[in-house]
Amino acid sequence: MTSLEERPADLEPRAAGPGYLPGFGNQHVTEAVPGALPRGRNSPQRAPLGLYAEQISGTAFTAPRRTNRRTWVYRIRPSAKHPRFRRVDAGTLMTSPIPNAAPEPNRLRWDPFPLPGEPRTFVESLFTVGGTGDARSQDGVAIHMYLATRPMDREYFVNADGEMLLVPESGRLRIATELGVLDVGQGEIAVIPRGIRFKVGLPDGTARGYVLENYGDLLRLPELGPIGANGLANPRDFLSPVAAFEDRDDEVVVFQKYLGNLWAADYDHSPLDVVAWHGNHAPYKYDLRTFMVIGTITFDHPDPSIYTVLSSPSAQEGTANADFVIFAPRWLVGEDTFRPPWFHRNVMSEFMGLLWGVYDAKAEGFLPGGASLHNCFTSHGPDEETYERASSIELAPRKVDDTMAFMFETRLPIVPTPQAMAAANLQPDYDDVWRGIQRHFPAGTR
Ligand SMILES: [Fe+2]
Repeated sequence: MTSLEERPADLEPRAAGPGYLPGFGNQHVTEAVPGALPRGRNSPQRAPLGLYAEQISGTAFTAPRRTNRRTWVYRIRPSAKHPRFRRVDAGTLMTSPIPNAAPEPNRLRWDPFPLPGEPRTFVESLFTVGGTGDARSQDGVAIHMYLATRPMDREYFVNADGEMLLVPESGRLRIATELGVLDVGQGEIAVIPRGIRFKVGLPDGTARGYVLENYGDLLRLPELGPIGANGLANPRDFLSPVAAFEDRDDEVVVFQKYLGNLWAADYDHSPLDVVAWHGNHAPYKYDLRTFMVIGTITFDHPDPSIYTVLSSPSAQEGTANADFVIFAPRWLVGEDTFRPPWFHRNVMSEFMGLLWGVYDAKAEGFLPGGASLHNCFTSHGPDEETYERASSIELAPRKVDDTMAFMFETRLPIVPTPQAMAAANLQPDYDDVWRGIQRHFPAGTR
């Protein structure tokens, strides 16, 4: 029998092993107790071992096969067995549309977000930096920081508004979900589907990281086009958990995020009581270090979309509701090329974070645990120091090493929250990054 308590204590990030099922969007089949899964049907007259059968639909019943996500679970009690939810204070957790009457056109950058001095669970610590679209119309995203200092034990969480992409910056997470346990550390990401209950343990005592809450179409692998059948994030490197359950009959609290508010209900049992499941609406994790980076071997460099790990498409072809993009270690070999990210303006909006190292467009001021927001059509690019160095350096092959930055990019302008605009770690002088850039064009040239 595999219960949560009996899982190995080894929390190191690892490749596919006994605790994980490989493959992106696979139809996984797993049981924590032999014989818990019914054979040949989903909903027999009586499910094995006295379990209750329940379907969790992550997409419409009639969504095309290529996008359809659903999972059958076999659990100790049906999830319908719970009392009324009561509304509770959501603290610094906010939802799109973000109330901000005058979002600025200014470029924004934050120093690392500090951990709170008092104990805060993952859920209590969520601090919303910005958002766009509307959770009620299942469009757009919100961006949060988690700044956790207390593990969840009696508390559980479920998000009815969107799936959550977690990007740890420091501190490991032990994410116990209805469908099993994900151990996730720096360099890995985890995605918790909409509607799946979970709690977050903190093996290192504290944890900080970034969250993309996606209200739109579920994240999927980007199309590869002429790249071919392989490359970027390979499907087999995505890992879902094997079934694991809590057999716990005591007082717990389940918090639910629903249309922007936080609600709570007192349960008399753990909601993580799924003994077996099969399907493809499941949590998963992915190690960013397994991303196959593609870049130029002649000159110039491709648009950063070449670094897309996961994408939430919108109804507009090729125009994402949200992309998750990484800037991973890679060789730079372009000849006669300005190699760092170029100066540009973009109709898409870009939120960036740093996990470790130095981002190759910013020599300083952009730190792990911090963030920048370059919104729709704000001008940005390398800072003065980076420009001067990159435009004069001898162009030998060079490896950008020991760094990992990422971007949440969306077709919609990201509205920063009033609390993020008032945060003490918002840098007042970010524009100075470009202030010293010199004119080189000779005066009087005709
Ligand atoms: Fe950009």
